[in-house]
Amino acid sequence: MFEVKNIEETNLADNPVIAQMSHYNHEQLLFCSDNATGLKAIIAVHNTILGPALGGTRMWAYKSELEALTDVLRLSRGMTYKNSISGLNLGGGKAVIIGDSRSIKSEALFRRFGKFVNSLGGKYITAEDVGISPLDMSWVNMETNHVVGLPGKSGDPSPVTAYGVYVGMKACAKEQFGTDSLNGKKVAVQGVGHVGEYLVQSLSKEGAEVYITDIHEPTLKRVAESYGAKVVGLEEIYDIEMDIYAPCALGATINDDTLARLKCSIIAGAANNQLKQEDVHGQAVMNKGIIYAPDFAINAGGVINCYSEVKGNNSEWAMNKAEEIYQTIGNIVVRSKAENVPVYKIANKMAEERIEAIGKVKLPL
Ligand SMILES: NC(=O)c1ccc[n+]([C@@H]2O[C@H](COP(=O)([O-])OP(=O)(O)OC[C@H]3O[C@@H](n4cnc5c(N)ncnc54)[C@H](O)[C@@H]3O)[C@@H](O)[C@H]2O)c1
Repeated sequence: MFEVKNIEETNLADNPVIAQMSHYNHEQLLFCSDNATGLKAIIAVHNTILGPALGGTRMWAYKSELEALTDVLRLSRGMTYKNSISGLNLGGGKAVIIGDSRSIKSEALFRRFGKFVNSLGGKYITAEDVGISPLDMSWVNMETNHVVGLPGKSGDPSPVTAYGVYVGMKACAKEQFGTDSLNGKKVAVQGVGHVGEYLVQSLSKEGAEVYITDIHEPTLKRVAESYGAKVVGLEEIYDIEMDIYAPCALGATINDDTLARLKCSIIAGAANNQLKQEDVHGQAVMNKGIIYAPDFAINAGGVINCYSEVKGNNSEWAMNKAEEIYQTIGNIVVRSKAENVPVYKIANKMAEERIEAIGKVKLPL
């Protein structure tokens, strides 16, 4: 049975590494250390039932090794769920390099890291994540071919991610309003960066009334002028009358404070980890009658774009695959209503069910 225990059940600090791996149901961890280059990294392969474990490498100045271990375990497990719910033949993995990305980077460090990735023989495929640049990844690529998202390959994933969010939002509208048209709907987009701007473009084209906010004033002004969106304040966005709230900047914006203020009936955006506490706020949005599109399912366009590179498919394929997010979100929402269970739980269950089912297909005859 593919199952993940509740992570809060265990006091992580008191457990040795293998107990933590077992707790999260991980297959393999690779601890990487190299004194010559200063590399300290952990590669986590969570689950490879569906295919090679794909997930980015994050570089972060973790306060402790335990913090890095916890992060890589959670992130890699999250990739298993995202890849599964998106119908990709990919497992979940992630890597963390411990250190300050402004001071420890070097060609040698990334090439050494690439050798460690290569030693896994394709079981883990890496990509960029927080603190890693395309140049860093091109160094990794000198030592291994198990890298995606390189310059000149599948390119910027943001248009694909934004398209997935747009169609996922429409699927929510279909369930909430009886039509998937966003014409005339008031949509508040928080963060108009790479993904947010493409989303605003699609929404404006469809005739939605778009409200935007961003901490970066010049971007905010440019996007407002380009697409006729109305600017609102950074805090005001939680208080305005709106149909749809689209978080495209930060995590944890669905919390006790904002839920008391938000007047929307749909939450659908690109940001990761939108629910501050999954169990508490996932139930709370449901109690308020809000349809929430689970973040890892609606923002899967990025990993779909990476997968297109693994398979040698083009950008048109990636867009078509991202269009399936409409169906995925629709299925999750319908099942959540039918079973009266919050969407985040249903999405996790559906991801687990696919892994379990495909696991049986792969058993030897
Ligand atoms: N880029 C992708 O393909 C992709 C894929 C999956 C998930 N995501 C997630 O979607 C979100 C957006 O990604 P992106 O690539 O557009 O990032 P980005 O950095 O290009 O854009 C984020 C925008 O949010 C703004 N911002 C930051 N703090 C803010 C705040 N407090 N209030 C309002 N705006 C704020 C920034 O100024 C920036 O313009 C992130 O959470 C990211 O993890 C992105």
